Amino acid sequence: MSSRTKNIPKKIRERVADLCEQLERHNRLYYVEAQPEIFDVEFDALLRELQNLEAEYSVLATPDSPTQRVGGEPLDGFETVDHAVPMLSIDNTYTYDELRKFDERVLKGLKEGDAPAYVVELKLDGVAIALRYEKGTLVRAITRGDGVRGDDVTKNVQTIRSVPLKLEGNPPGTLEVRGEVFMRRQELERINELREKEGEAPLANPRNTTAGTLKMLDSKEVAKRRLDIFLYDIAPIEGATLDSHQDTLGRLERYGFSVNPLREVCSSIDAVIAQCDAWDAQRRDLDYETDGLVVKLDNQAQRERLGATSKSPRWVIAYKFPADVARTKLLGISVQVGKSGAITPVAELEPVALAGTTVKRASLYNFEDLERKDLRVGDIVEVQKAGEIIPQILRFVDDEGHENLAAFKPPTECPACGTELQKDPEGVFVRCLNLACPAQVKERLAYYASRGAMDIEGLGPAIIESLVDSGLVKDPSDLYRLKAETLQELDRMAEKSAQNLIDGIGKSRTQSLSRLLNGLGIRHVGGATAEILANHFRTMDALAKATEEELKDIHEVGEIVAATVADFFDTPENQALIERLRNRGLTLEEAQETDGGPKLFEGKTFVVTGKLEEFTRDGMHSLIKKLGGRPSSSVSKKTDFLVAGADAGSKLKKAQELGVAVLTESEFLAKAETTS
Ligand code: IVH
Repeated sequence: MSSRTKNIPKKIRERVADLCEQLERHNRLYYVEAQPEIFDVEFDALLRELQNLEAEYSVLATPDSPTQRVGGEPLDGFETVDHAVPMLSIDNTYTYDELRKFDERVLKGLKEGDAPAYVVELKLDGVAIALRYEKGTLVRAITRGDGVRGDDVTKNVQTIRSVPLKLEGNPPGTLEVRGEVFMRRQELERINELREKEGEAPLANPRNTTAGTLKMLDSKEVAKRRLDIFLYDIAPIEGATLDSHQDTLGRLERYGFSVNPLREVCSSIDAVIAQCDAWDAQRRDLDYETDGLVVKLDNQAQRERLGATSKSPRWVIAYKFPADVARTKLLGISVQVGKSGAITPVAELEPVALAGTTVKRASLYNFEDLERKDLRVGDIVEVQKAGEIIPQILRFVDDEGHENLAAFKPPTECPACGTELQKDPEGVFVRCLNLACPAQVKERLAYYASRGAMDIEGLGPAIIESLVDSGLVKDPSDLYRLKAETLQELDRMAEKSAQNLIDGIGKSRTQSLSRLLNGLGIRHVGGATAEILANHFRTMDALAKATEEELKDIHEVGEIVAATVADFFDTPENQALIERLRNRGLTLEEAQETDGGPKLFEGKTFVVTGKLEEFTRDGMHSLIKKLGGRPSSSVSKKTDFLVAGADAGSKLKKAQELGVAVLTESEFLAKAETTS
């Protein structure tokens, strides 16, 4: 015990150690083994207890504490460090012919009669990383870099939930493991949905997002993006003797690392090729991206016999899948105006089939990108499904007289209102700063009416278009002055649909403050931030009066949000808009008390079966719903809990087969009563 911890009561020290151990265990059960034993809120409560103890007794906050996963103080930059053992690259192949040649070389290099066994793994499309553990504790994480030196991204990697901060199962004193950090598609979708709500451009693909995230200076931001990892190698360190790759993977699993279960041992190159074929067809069903397979000789003695060239080992090769690329004609480049005035080019394409969908438009991100690629209307272009989410234009194909086409001139004026465009000081975007720009007004109204905001049924793009073009609506407050007769005339709408729209607009008067705040489209304020602000301030007036400092003091609000919110409410036009909304009868207060904090069963699916004693079936369903859970009638892999009463039959059996957690009625009740 160090002299600094001596004065701390033994009970506290023991509790901190116990919490660290419990949290790491539950973390592993959840993120590595996908078999959680406790609810998220229970985990959060343990974490909070540890955070509080560490805040009180700061010497107990060790670098391997689970509290490190939420991120720490921002860094000024990353240190470049040498790898203890260089990270070699591997040769790529693109055809089965090349794979057979690799096999021939391997056979030649082995002893007569030695039969090779290959382990075939998915080649993850992420960022390669080396993790160093000393006495079982993660001490350093370095990106591959050029293979000899990489960036020290330890603080960021500590936030990755599937990276163990402490190892299990008797690891050696020093251990370096290698693997790939990546992002699941679903996570990118989640981030992009949030970005869309905040009016930010979507991130193009998981690989670039992973690389970008690992290089963020603020580890708190990294913690918010849920990166993942698979380990696939142990670096050769003196004294360690590993017999085979399968031995390595087994050890990695025992130490508590996440290892991709999708791998196959093949005893011939034909079997390897069959795997390549199968994965080329199935890879799009995975929830992460893979750009190929890695074929590794299993046996360590055989590996040593083959050795390495200066660049790469001779016992391993990558097979890269053919990319999803299609050629089509660039018919036009249109220009979009976003709700905060950002101007983005969009490629209009001759429809073309690509990776299972028909692509007609592609993102061009920004004008700098467009200029770099020198795309011209009329070009034949190569389109790729980047991240298989947003199609992207790679380049033009220079056989259709590109030189004779006119170069694209980026607009200098807003296509909707003619205002001169300004370069965004924060980035590569150009913006129209005219708040009254009809294109922006339409975008803002559409956002105001959208489901996540004021949820006004019937207020779609076509009606918004004619309301704005006719000059009837300039901002959301004008909606509340509309009359059914005007709508009927304007849109030649049927009497009934005009009245429905008026009713829908009317109903939105009583929407919550958080929805209204979201609907106002303040930059960087989407649904989640709006809810935090509404819960904190309770009324629009209190929020409007808050200073930037007060806003910053709210735990979840960062500097940028604080500055934009304060700026929004300081702007006279916005103050006037809020006054108009007030005068038109909108609720500018949070109506009912919110439940406060997360719900115990949030996001969990329950199936109830068998005869219950304390509850009726409906009664239990409504309690589940009240606590944020979702009752369902059939058991599947997605079920989190089965509540089994007496004489439970096939559902219980199925739950047991699928490894779904089973609760008795009284266990369920005990859980439910911890909050209700
Ligand atoms: S093995 C010496 N296995 O692909 C062998 N690499 O140069 C080291 N990668 O960026 C690499 N998945 O990070 C191996 N299952 C896998 C992999 C994998 C992805 C990456 C690796 C590196 C590149 C190979």
